Amino acid sequence: MCGIVGYIGEQDATDIIVEGLRKLEYRGYDSAGVAVLKDGRTEIRRAVGKLRNLDKALVERPLTGSVGIGHTRWATHGRPAEQNAHPHAVDGITVVHNGIIENYLELRHRLVQRDRRFSSETDTEIMAHLVAEHAARGLGFVDAVRAALTEVRGAYAFVILSEREPDKIITAKNASPIVIGYGENAEENYVASDIPALLAHTRTFTFLNDGEMAVLSKSGVVVTTLDGQPIEAKVKRVDWSPVMAEKGGHKHFMHKEIFEQPTAIADTIRGRVIMEEARVHLEGMELGDVNRLQRLVITACGTSYHAGLVGKFMIEQIARLPVEVDLASEFRYRQPVIDETTGLLAISQSGETADTLAAIKEGKRHGAPVFAVCNVIESSIARECTGSGGVMYTHAGPEIGVASTKAFTTQLVALHLLAIHLGRERGILDRATAQEMLTNLREVPKQIETMLNREASLVAVARRYAKSKDVLYLGRGPNYPIALEGALKLKEISYIHAEGYAAGEMKHGPIALIDENLPTVAIATQGDAYEKTVSNLEEVRARDGKLIIIASEGDSKIAAIADDVFIVPRNQPLIDPILTVVPLQLLAYHIADINGTDVDQPRNLAKSVTVE
Ligand code: M6R
Repeated sequence: MCGIVGYIGEQDATDIIVEGLRKLEYRGYDSAGVAVLKDGRTEIRRAVGKLRNLDKALVERPLTGSVGIGHTRWATHGRPAEQNAHPHAVDGITVVHNGIIENYLELRHRLVQRDRRFSSETDTEIMAHLVAEHAARGLGFVDAVRAALTEVRGAYAFVILSEREPDKIITAKNASPIVIGYGENAEENYVASDIPALLAHTRTFTFLNDGEMAVLSKSGVVVTTLDGQPIEAKVKRVDWSPVMAEKGGHKHFMHKEIFEQPTAIADTIRGRVIMEEARVHLEGMELGDVNRLQRLVITACGTSYHAGLVGKFMIEQIARLPVEVDLASEFRYRQPVIDETTGLLAISQSGETADTLAAIKEGKRHGAPVFAVCNVIESSIARECTGSGGVMYTHAGPEIGVASTKAFTTQLVALHLLAIHLGRERGILDRATAQEMLTNLREVPKQIETMLNREASLVAVARRYAKSKDVLYLGRGPNYPIALEGALKLKEISYIHAEGYAAGEMKHGPIALIDENLPTVAIATQGDAYEKTVSNLEEVRARDGKLIIIASEGDSKIAAIADDVFIVPRNQPLIDPILTVVPLQLLAYHIADINGTDVDQPRNLAKSVTVE
């Protein structure tokens, strides 16, 4: 949940670290800090709130030195306050940490009994004390860290400095991500929580696995297990450009990412369609003999969960394979009935969501083959699935805005490809129908482009409804999850209460809310449920409710009941959700922008939720 950057080399560490943290601020923004080693002494600057506050602190009291570590925090233990901001230093040992030390109370109690004094409320400071204690009894830096790691339990990515051995940075990982970046033109090396932090400096990375640690010096990186067994680190080239992680002229990352959807979707499809044979090549996903699977369980959180709900429609209708969709945070607590005949499919943008990762582990424990649809390469979820069912990457590029947009639509495209693959492999889907579906899917980037060109009409709608207190979203069939997603987008970035409902459920309760002050955003595109949805909307109209309707091209009747209409291009009903969500993303974005909220970093949220 927090962001970490470390640098060792010849350049000014502070600039590299702070610029890296800026790319990671989406991971948390309660406080930030940086520590730099110079002439065997550590100096630290920390500030509460966004990184700009740390910038100010660094202008007032600059830091120089060519070895350092930094952190941007999403608070777990201890409120957002300067004393709780990382780095935490004890007796020349300085630590930044992402994760949670589960046995923190027990360790803190023991350390206090040994007269250790704490200056923060964090679990992280424990680690600084433990390493300092081991160093005090004569262990070298590496051995002291190793000894301390045997005492802590929980999820962690630690990055640690020592005044006694200023030529090293040590990092260790368990269940929180760490990527090591190799200097390409000079004697220098980097460490961070995520790739975008380092893209300005290198494209050559090693992704640490759980239970591994690395010692970085200017001239090299040594990776070992926590108990010191050498490991040959796998080095990967990543072809994301730094520009992909910049705003590129857009006011917010979210806006940029909405506009990147045509390209991102084309990238998801690229290389996966064999049109002549009407087959789909899933790349890293290895389903094996699909006929051994009696059903699929999809597990995910937030927006990715909504993608899973749409995926159920796609897979059940196209491949006739039963699908259940479970919130990952609920999955493992309900004693799920799964075995080797159940495919467990995780969907995650970040690949680091703790609940989804835990659900995958639970699935494996029951012998289920586990698969993932994931955006971030070599993320924890992707790696957990490698060797079991594998991973299908969405290739959406870095998503920085906390509100997920292009990750969602590319997940839907990946699920549609998966559904076609399953349909073909199970002998349900004939060649001609599959070809038609694939042709229609290839139309989506252009169709989204045409909607993005009509953004201005949604700005006008946003102005009319920006001051609403509540908004209701309605949809049916595969557009019901889109109603949920539209509501989630609005509430998370504008703080306006919004609810998504299946349109047919209106009359079972929510209709009591309808009056002239409650706008309803309804998806009423052509398809089996069209007439029924229109009847539900008539019921809203009859009670003076305001209606903003997302309708299909060529629908001449809908304007009669709508206050505002946004037209989406026609495609197949199962592809519709990939289109209908786009105006809802833009509507939420513009309402939030008009209200002046922090669109990319909404309050209380973080991009990847690596705590349960
Ligand atoms: O990285 P993941 O897809 O696993 O993240 C899951 C959710 O945390 C995420 O979709 C969240 O709901 C977004 N803020 C929604 O915009």
